[in-house]
Amino acid sequence: MDKYAVFGNPIKHSKSPFIHTLFANQTGQQIIYDVIEAPLDSFKENLDLFFNSQGKGCNITAPFKEQAYEYAQQLTERARLAGAVNTLKLTDDGILIGDNTDGAGLVQDLKNNHIAIEEARILIVGAGGAARGVCGPLLAENPTELVIANRTYEKAQQLAALFPNDTRISACEIGQLSGTFNLIINSTSAGLHGQIPAINPDIIHPETAIYDMMYSAQITPFNAWAREQGARFVMDGLGMLVGQAAESFAIWRGLKPGAKQVLNELRQNLKN
Ligand code: ATR
Repeated sequence: MDKYAVFGNPIKHSKSPFIHTLFANQTGQQIIYDVIEAPLDSFKENLDLFFNSQGKGCNITAPFKEQAYEYAQQLTERARLAGAVNTLKLTDDGILIGDNTDGAGLVQDLKNNHIAIEEARILIVGAGGAARGVCGPLLAENPTELVIANRTYEKAQQLAALFPNDTRISACEIGQLSGTFNLIINSTSAGLHGQIPAINPDIIHPETAIYDMMYSAQITPFNAWAREQGARFVMDGLGMLVGQAAESFAIWRGLKPGAKQVLNELRQNLKN
């Protein structure tokens, strides 16, 4: 059976084996999908070991996505823009291709939920790796504007500067946000500490779609806050997780699995 895995540290609570096993069942594919917790100082040695023992492809999560980017022999354009790789595939010719499916996962989840990206005014809060991974794929869907706001303004500027020829993307001081947005995406890790980034609540209109890349069994702190400001439609990042996995599966197996049933099962699991 073809062998796949997810690499990370820590990785014990990864949902990826569950998701990919359901995808394999759904599409009638025979695969093995393991979880590999690589020591922080020997990620690349562990990848060597995996690919030298019949590994066909893998997912990579924190904190190894940048190292996977260096490890890949070839990069897709979206991985290059993201500066990080979450999917490696060994081709039949023995070439290791690095891709990044995070942005595609977000776009797919937004579309599944009928959130318009085209002609939308979009705000991304945060300017770390999570934000960087989704900028290119969002711009490819033709929003009117993509504003990056971050606690550390310079990082927002650096991120916007990765798209020098695109006038739709700009950086904004987090305290200077104004107007309303069609879509606000929280990519910060503030919620992990029960915190909310300090953004002006007036930018939330009842029709503003709110997307928190974080997910949890209960409503996330950012989404709870957005609801208090009157946002009617809030989503968390569980659908993005399933979406990026579906895209990775398609890269490896040539078949795109459906996300909906897997997402429902995962949501149920999260609650139990
Ligand atoms: P990731 O790869 O998940 O994006 P990261 O690179 O560490 O992780 O980035 C975390 C992001 O969350 C950053 O944009 C960070 O802001 P700074 O660049 O100013 O550090 C943001 N962040 C984390 N905690 C935050 C908080 N309490 N309020 C606002 N932003 C926060």
